[in-house]
Amino acid sequence: MDGTTPARGLLRLLTCGSVDDGKSTLIGRLLYDSQMIMEDTLASITRDSRKHGTVGEEVDLALLVDGLEAERQQGITIDVAYRFFTTPRRSFIVADCPGHEQYTRNMATGASNSELAIILVDARKGLLTQTRRHSYICSLLGIRHVVLAVNKIDLVNFDRQVFDRIVGEYATFAANFGFRTLVPIPTSGRFGDNVTTRSGNTPWYRGETLLAHLESVGVAEERAGPFRFPVQWVNRPNQDFRGFSGSVAGGGVSLGERVVVASSGIETQVARILGPSGEQQRAEAGEAVTICLADEVDVARGDVLVPTHSRPAVADQLAAHLLWMDEEPMLPGRQYLMRLGNSWTSASVTAIKHRVDVATLEHGSATRLTLNEIGFCNFALAQRLPFDPYADNRLTGAFILVDRFTNRTAGCGMIAFPLRRATNVHQERFLVDRAARAAALGQRPMVLWFTGLSGSGKSTVSKLVEQALHRMGRHTYSLDGDNLRHGLNRDLGFTDQDRVENIRRVGEVAKLFVDAGLIVLCSFISPFRAERDMVREMLGEGDFVEIFVDTPIEECIRRDAKGLYARAMRGEIANFTGVSSPYEPPERAELVLDGGREAPEAQAQKVLDVIGQRLAREAG
Ligand code: ADX
Repeated sequence: MDGTTPARGLLRLLTCGSVDDGKSTLIGRLLYDSQMIMEDTLASITRDSRKHGTVGEEVDLALLVDGLEAERQQGITIDVAYRFFTTPRRSFIVADCPGHEQYTRNMATGASNSELAIILVDARKGLLTQTRRHSYICSLLGIRHVVLAVNKIDLVNFDRQVFDRIVGEYATFAANFGFRTLVPIPTSGRFGDNVTTRSGNTPWYRGETLLAHLESVGVAEERAGPFRFPVQWVNRPNQDFRGFSGSVAGGGVSLGERVVVASSGIETQVARILGPSGEQQRAEAGEAVTICLADEVDVARGDVLVPTHSRPAVADQLAAHLLWMDEEPMLPGRQYLMRLGNSWTSASVTAIKHRVDVATLEHGSATRLTLNEIGFCNFALAQRLPFDPYADNRLTGAFILVDRFTNRTAGCGMIAFPLRRATNVHQERFLVDRAARAAALGQRPMVLWFTGLSGSGKSTVSKLVEQALHRMGRHTYSLDGDNLRHGLNRDLGFTDQDRVENIRRVGEVAKLFVDAGLIVLCSFISPFRAERDMVREMLGEGDFVEIFVDTPIEECIRRDAKGLYARAMRGEIANFTGVSSPYEPPERAELVLDGGREAPEAQAQKVLDVIGQRLAREAG
């Protein structure tokens, strides 16, 4: 440490690569040789590596990092641990993204918070699919500085040609990734070559050591951009104070500056800025502050304060890269919870424009995205929200999708641009509305939704109910899977994504008929909870009655009125519900019918009773 290099700011970095590329050992070596670890940790590792180490009398450096991992595993919910280290020249936050290498979840989380990635390649193996995938994800997630550590260089006899070949191949692969620096270094984590000291074994390598590069690389330009302040919390302890708390997500703001509330476009002025130690003149990106405004304007959690001259998009449709991280595939049309900035909304993919093959970067078509796949998709959101392109701001341009049932983070998105297609389409308001139509018909419109296996008896019961309603003078309409699939839905088959689309359309049609004042009877297998719940939400609780015709599959197979089960079991029909495609029973159906034992007439009567009770409740 000669102190000639000026001190640099903080560097956030992550390491990625395939399993066994020696990530833990390399990072351990970096920390050990640069003395970036505390003495007590070191002592315990020396002890442990005598006990468990795999490298004889040497200190097993992997234990340094892996030991931290074990500690972290006690807090299972933490995906990524951040380690803080410092040398006389610079401080580092290393995102340690361990875990099962087949999952990109942790890696993506780490990358979204980092400025530099160390991409490890085992010199003996060269570039692997995982190397390519991680590199592409780093690029998508906005990492602009990369170190290509061609590691275990000792195991290829410090061969320059091996190094050059890997570097050449990587440079071609990553040519369009937008990396501002791409620095290849031949390293041996195990022996320390070119980690903190230049190696005598690689006289052909003239570049910096890993540590020297990390200490000197400039990444400051990443933090610029216009002011963005996503409001996390409206702070109103009493009538006299109203402040908006959050972290500055871009640029900065000074007292007295004009700002607008992005979603409403209402303009006002910054009256006060309160930080951890009281009033301040200015707030910069990364600072957590409370901002008070000069006027009483409407600001809610999720709103974003921005400068008047540089506003984000505000839209309910957008295009984004989506990295799918869930075992359950992403199905277009399915509703997910989207967290964008500090807002939560419901959102679905309306189209997968293309899927990216991570090994070749080629674009292909896709009807779904499975674990670790990346697609460029159009999204529809339930409400208009402010956002930026991810390339402009990594905080206001990113979102996550959460599975509504498991609550798992299922995907993460990097926004490319807003879609404004629908802004010239307004909702027409008519002079005669639903209430008027329902009154003219003298009835309470609603949807009776029959779900259950094929052959469970949904249609049979539904027909009896409709007949009874008709005799009572009610106005009804029936929507049925087999029938609609001859017309409106004749382009749909029985893959998961087609079933999602089937139910989405049926839901929309049912909603129109309810609006027309009718009692609508829908009989669809509708095997997925998510889509049944979507229809429920679309209609509103009171308008939706879910009726589960619970007939055991053995009974459906025994009946097999259409002969479909026999064919499905012979393998002649693919994706047959109950045989080769799942059925998710309802968890909160208004009515469960024992379709196996009860006569259809008795079941129909139960449905009529439920309708009667509902009407009585509403009347009372
Ligand atoms: S849903 O799953 O998308 O809700 P829907 O109720 O419209 O299905 O259609 C189901 C009907 O299609 C069944 O009653 C059956 O007659 C027929 N069918 C043909 N192939 C299949 C299949 N692979 N799985 C289920 N039903 C099928």
